[in-house]
Amino acid sequence: NLYRIKQIRTDTMVLGLIGKPVGHSKSPLLHNAALNSVGINAVYVPFLVDDLASFLKAFSYPDFAGFSVGIPHKVTAITCCDEVDPIAKCIGAVNTIVRRPSDGKLIGYNTDYVGAISAIEDGIRGLIGDHSIELPLDGRIFVVIGAGGAGKALAYGAKAKGARVVIANRTYAGAKALAESVGCDALLFTELESFNPEKGMVLANTTSVGMQPNVHDTPIAKSALGHYDLVFDAVYTPKETRLLREAKESGIPVVSGVEMFIRQAMKQFDLFTGLPAPEEMMRDFVM
Ligand code: ATR
Repeated sequence: NLYRIKQIRTDTMVLGLIGKPVGHSKSPLLHNAALNSVGINAVYVPFLVDDLASFLKAFSYPDFAGFSVGIPHKVTAITCCDEVDPIAKCIGAVNTIVRRPSDGKLIGYNTDYVGAISAIEDGIRGLIGDHSIELPLDGRIFVVIGAGGAGKALAYGAKAKGARVVIANRTYAGAKALAESVGCDALLFTELESFNPEKGMVLANTTSVGMQPNVHDTPIAKSALGHYDLVFDAVYTPKETRLLREAKESGIPVVSGVEMFIRQAMKQFDLFTGLPAPEEMMRDFVM
């Protein structure tokens, strides 16, 4: 979009992705298209960064208004912010930093959990046919597969929404450590397929199992999906993982990682600009 370069002036708001690597990310294209579509004088740039703290110190001008934080800086980002959203603090990861205009302070958020949980909540609202219900996860059993960064985000996010969270992980120590800090139960990966205390549970895969190029892998056998009434997969390449395909074949509604990706980007847009994200445009762009 070369014509935009003519619009970049000294007062242009600069947003960006801080990470290493950054070349593969779709965020610059998506955010620039979204900013452009609502006519905001801002540009979103990928920054290949080794040391987050030095970068933030060097780029402390007010016009550097916000950043997406990618691998490997999501954990360090917590210590670089002046204030951190309470759930992002529990998760131990920040993926969005916003410079507060009033005092220039850096505020850290985690929009990954917001994106995933809101997508799952809307999935349940659709399932029960009640779009007005405020806390659709309240009291539901929410099984999280994986205890890494995304697992933590989903576990804390679901717990904050009143779900009864169970964490299943390949390594029990990982599941147990996370379960203790969240205040929930832990399962060994191999126990997952026989875990069926009741019907009406939500299953969320947060591991990379099934991600390209290993598209034939799945974290749980198709025969063990029957007790779930909604299945979510944080993996979004491919758009439909084997887990989601098998859930659909079993008649179970699904929420895809693409939905999480779109929603986390929309939340970032909102935090960066203070404006509602152009949802339709962003969906068209990603889909
Ligand atoms: P992220 O930050 O994206 O969540 P991560 O921190 O590397 O990534 O976490 C990866 C999670 O996926 C872990 O829970 C990991 O299980 P272990 O704790 O046993 O390592 C899980 N995981 C990754 N590959 C897996 C596989 N092939 N089978 C089962 N679990 C796997």
